[in-house]
Amino acid sequence: MKDASPQTIYLSDYTPPAYLVEDVHLTFRLAPTATRVIARINFRPNPEAKSRAFFLHGEGLKLIWATVDGQIVQPGIDEDGLTAEVPDAPFTWEAEVEIDPAGNTRLEGLYLSNGMYCTQCEAEGFRRITYYPDRPDVMAPFTVRIEGEEPVLLSNGNPTDHGPGWAEWTDPWPKPSYLFALVAGDLVAREDSFTTRNEREVALKLWVRPGDEHKTEWAMESLKASMKWDEEVYGREYDLDIFQIVAVSDFNMGAMENKGLNIFNTSAVLASPDTSTDANFARIEGIVAHEYFHNWTGNRITCRDWFQLSLKEGLTVFRDQSFSADLRSAAVQRIEDVMALRGRQFREDNGPLAHQVQPDSFVEINNFYTATIYEKGAEVIRMLHTLVGPDDYRKALDLYFDRHDGEAATIDDWLNVFEDATGRDLGQFKRWYKQAGTPRLSVEEQWEDGTYTLTFTQDTPPTPGQDEKAPLVIPIVTGLLGPNGDEVVPSQVLEMTEKTQSFTFAGLGAKPVPSILRGFSAPVILTREASPEERAFLLANDTDPFNRWEAGRMLAKEVLTAMVTGKEPPLDAYLGALATMLRDDSLEPAFRALALHLPGEDDMAQTLHDAGITPDPARIHDARETLLQEVAEHLQDSLPRLSAEMVIEAPFAPDAEQAGKRALALALLRLTTRLDGGKAAAKVYAEADNMTLSLGALGCLLDAEAGEAALADFEARWAGDALVMDKWFMMQVSHAAPEKAADVAARLAEHPAFNMKNPNRFRSVFGALAMHPAGFHHASGAGYALMADWIIRLDPLNPQIAARMSGAFETIGRYDADRQGMMREALERIAASEGLSRDTGEMVGRILR
Ligand code: ARG
Ligand code: ZN
Repeated sequence: MKDASPQTIYLSDYTPPAYLVEDVHLTFRLAPTATRVIARINFRPNPEAKSRAFFLHGEGLKLIWATVDGQIVQPGIDEDGLTAEVPDAPFTWEAEVEIDPAGNTRLEGLYLSNGMYCTQCEAEGFRRITYYPDRPDVMAPFTVRIEGEEPVLLSNGNPTDHGPGWAEWTDPWPKPSYLFALVAGDLVAREDSFTTRNEREVALKLWVRPGDEHKTEWAMESLKASMKWDEEVYGREYDLDIFQIVAVSDFNMGAMENKGLNIFNTSAVLASPDTSTDANFARIEGIVAHEYFHNWTGNRITCRDWFQLSLKEGLTVFRDQSFSADLRSAAVQRIEDVMALRGRQFREDNGPLAHQVQPDSFVEINNFYTATIYEKGAEVIRMLHTLVGPDDYRKALDLYFDRHDGEAATIDDWLNVFEDATGRDLGQFKRWYKQAGTPRLSVEEQWEDGTYTLTFTQDTPPTPGQDEKAPLVIPIVTGLLGPNGDEVVPSQVLEMTEKTQSFTFAGLGAKPVPSILRGFSAPVILTREASPEERAFLLANDTDPFNRWEAGRMLAKEVLTAMVTGKEPPLDAYLGALATMLRDDSLEPAFRALALHLPGEDDMAQTLHDAGITPDPARIHDARETLLQEVAEHLQDSLPRLSAEMVIEAPFAPDAEQAGKRALALALLRLTTRLDGGKAAAKVYAEADNMTLSLGALGCLLDAEAGEAALADFEARWAGDALVMDKWFMMQVSHAAPEKAADVAARLAEHPAFNMKNPNRFRSVFGALAMHPAGFHHASGAGYALMADWIIRLDPLNPQIAARMSGAFETIGRYDADRQGMMREALERIAASEGLSRDTGEMVGRILR
């Protein structure tokens, strides 16, 4: 059903561009409040177009003059762009515009961050730089001349010329405007080089503000590892003489894959042992890889329109996840990826913001850079990989690069490639792109005369605008274990296509224990009744590490659910299994740390809601606290020995092995803190020589309400480091007692170092509040009210971040009438605020509908 709003954009309305661009020449005369941009663009009619109407996007531009083939023209201008009379033949468009980078707080287009010029053009920021057909199916080579006083002047492609006060860059690869980038400022580079498999030398430069040089080594190593991996695993080689990364402190997202000139949020690229946690190092490695991998999946082959966003994002996330799995522990990586998927995508997919991996419509494209487009998109590709197998997957990818290099492609093109390369019909599989919502998969077993039968039923609940759901193709990787724990039927892919479908295993000597959905082979919610003993058995014996972890997780959820609903929890089974697992030295420490981690409060709220129970955030919080205390007491005698085993003598390294030991050490420290009130944590804090342990110990101290001295010490030590201070802000909110969380956030927002214009800082306070369920959903309503106040304040400055933050309310449907009423009131207050952005307006409207 079509929305009445005139601004809604529909996939079905796609039409090819009227004019194509031959080449683009841009000249920038930089000045903080009055930068001039002179464009010379050669257009030609598109033979495939249905109309000859000439329209260029443009927003917030002051047009100085424009010509067509050298003749001054007076275009018709409105708030979206301009129209002009042009020949039905090739012609040259020239225009000069003025823009105000210093006044640009949206951080889209050209803006000043910390004294340096930088750009963010995806999705539709280029139209804030000059008039242009700002759509990804218009691709062109760019030449850029930058004039400015700044010592470093950068753009895409290769450097072709420079002189005092100017530099010229040429990007020979046709690209859409969203991949344009410009950077100018006082920057220093870490330099390195990479030799491609065809012996081409590529210069590598990582640009940072003077003073940050010591934080560049890790990203550079990650970059070289990514370049090598893409050659080895996907056969993809880099294609320019230079690859550059710039670190920027004000940035809406993690990073951006601009051709040859990636721009990164400082938080996604800068790292040093004393300022960054192991999680920061891992995230940086993944994001550097992600942006680099976009050079082929995104840049060389781009998207025809924004409805195809997952074509590049889902694929590139799948690629960066595979890369991290290869470099680190594949099992641990998979568990972490699934935790993130469930925490963000399942949450989205089960609320009012649920949407398809390929949506049919949107109002503001920035609102669709979501966990569904990214993480579910990656899961869909992972399922394809599972269904066709690694060899056919590689064959299909080779064909994809061959067939579509240099093009703006669609998700249909992608699926056609798989059909052509493998001979498979993917008609039904395509539903994964077109059907929103998380499928529920239930299973029943039957055992008779040595034959074991698993009968699966799938069911996807309705989502906004999609009441009816058809059955999906679900690859269910399954193995069977014998009573002694041996694997009697090894892993195989059960390919489910029907609503209800059975699979049989004959010739078994005894009734097996099934291990279903190994490696989380499909993004579904599996429900299977099992006794606590059987879950404990799987936690002890499953050969699939993911399902081993999952068994413990299920058991923990059952314990918590029973505690919340006043039933008898299967505590002994859980604590016994946990203790056995923890003492098993054959399990890597990182795995044991994850298995020790209780399901989070938001996860429990969703789990209860799915079971038909209205979650009470306060009770969930208390149950979790009680269970953690039980765990600590049960493991009391093992804690000192295990903790001692996790001490690292070697010098700090941010590798997966050391990180795993530190993760387990901190998990144990959190338990110890419950028994000693913070004595051990104070010692760890005082002696820590790296941020992982400092911050972990600080968290323990805050939980024990013994963190004041450490907090003050931390602030004094790190006041000059914005990324570390983000952690200082965040920790205080995320470790606040539920009844204090909103107050703490409100007080921190008054701190002199709080700056709402910096997205990292804003998120460190209000993102942390949103992710503190017992605090945000406190019965007083203070969390909701405060969040609404700040979204309203931020919206005029940075609509993208304000819109994103309003996702805090997406779980409204789970809660009781009182909470729903207060959330609705907060949302209505946002909706009614004067001049609300399209971004936030769309989000709040979808949540309220
Ligand atoms: N393409 C970038 C990435 O995935 C993200 C760009 C986000 N842009 C936006 N407007 N939300 O690496
Ligand atoms: Zn991406």
